[in-house]
Amino acid sequence: MDKLLIEGGRRLEGSIAVSGAKNAALPILAAGLLTSDPLMVSNVPKLHDVATTLKLLAGMGVRSSQEGDCVTIDASTINAPHAPYDLVRTMRASILVLGPLLARFGEARVSLPGGCAIGQRPVDQHIKGLQAMGAQIGIEHGDVVAKSSRLRGARIITDMVTVTGTENLMMAATLAQGESIIENAAREPEVVDLANALIAMGARIEGAGSDRISIQGVERLHGASHRVMPDRIEAGTFLCAVAAAGGRLRLTSVTPSTMDATLEKLREAGAQIETGPDWIDLMMNARPKAINLRTAPFPGFATDMQAQMMAMNTVAEGAGVITETIFENRFMHVLEMQRLGADITIEGNTAIVRGVPTLSGASVMATDLRASAGLVIAGLVADGQTVVDRIYHLDRGYESMEAKLSGVGACIRRAS
Ligand code: EPU
Repeated sequence: MDKLLIEGGRRLEGSIAVSGAKNAALPILAAGLLTSDPLMVSNVPKLHDVATTLKLLAGMGVRSSQEGDCVTIDASTINAPHAPYDLVRTMRASILVLGPLLARFGEARVSLPGGCAIGQRPVDQHIKGLQAMGAQIGIEHGDVVAKSSRLRGARIITDMVTVTGTENLMMAATLAQGESIIENAAREPEVVDLANALIAMGARIEGAGSDRISIQGVERLHGASHRVMPDRIEAGTFLCAVAAAGGRLRLTSVTPSTMDATLEKLREAGAQIETGPDWIDLMMNARPKAINLRTAPFPGFATDMQAQMMAMNTVAEGAGVITETIFENRFMHVLEMQRLGADITIEGNTAIVRGVPTLSGASVMATDLRASAGLVIAGLVADGQTVVDRIYHLDRGYESMEAKLSGVGACIRRAS
């Protein structure tokens, strides 16, 4: 199993090009199931989760080809509309094939994702929404088994804001008969990126980016090409790293307007930030100031940035209060950060982080994707060597993280 070896304490300086967004690429690749024409997707990041998605689609009979960062999906033939457990358990986003399969083929069998390191993460809202569109859905042998004649448009009010839930229902509704309305919809930029890809395929969608999305179903969608938006979480992770370690960073191929909550917190921490249409400059010459934050659906502070901000807080001046409201168990990185000397107390869904002047390097274990990113940042500011084990989590969602960080002066390398 690969590990990352980090010698901390270096100032970071230079420029990083941000990759395409994982959480936009995955639903957009699943959207390829909605048409028998080729869908060409560019700016696709090289990630394990993307490889898993292509494997999942290949298992159904979908052909795909890859050239550089461009992936072409050809779902003209599907012989098995199934998402098996061995893939679903490694990537919960596999549930994103449920809506498209049902809408185009009238049947789907998708293994029910089991437990998860960061919270229970049920998919009841996906199921409830598809049932409202007329699907018959049951659980058989651990699989969600769904059947339907043509789906019917429906008004769906989700019980909570769910990102992949909104995406699944929006995709299903594109081919349903009549109008669907999704109320309490997720407003995340990745939902908007998916909607734009679907619109390019001929879907009639309005309101993506607001909490009310309306979709007029059409008979069929056609092929299209779409460029995936930049990864705002990858971008935020590198900004946090430099805010914690000190230095100067230029991010390119980024969309600052999708990152307001993160940029505001980094400014509060003392970072000087300038932005252009597709770049961000961050300069940090002093110890960061501790910040308080509360995760929330977009445009609130992203839960996917919580661990990285916490890492910055561990070496900040003062104390910061971090409240996680999206997932019940997303503080797994705290015990590992404590191994590096961080002063963190957890009370329920709140972590009180009292900044210490420096952390001290140690071996730590990554428990999920963003926890791993937080531990890498902690390693970059710790004295001596930090070894981050189980970085397969990191490889699921960050493209060449160690190469990008080495390029700005970090001492970090991968070892088997
Ligand atoms: N929820 C339910 N029932 C449902 C759906 C969601 O109770 O049917 C709950 C969840 O348990 C959670 C909350 O609603 O407490 C929000 O979950 P959401 O459905 O929004 O999460 P998701 O769609 O499974 C996506 C991202 C996550 C990101 C969350 C929140 C993708 C592929 N994944 O997950 O990304 O944390 O939204 O923003 O888009 C990551 O990239 O590391 C990651 C975990």
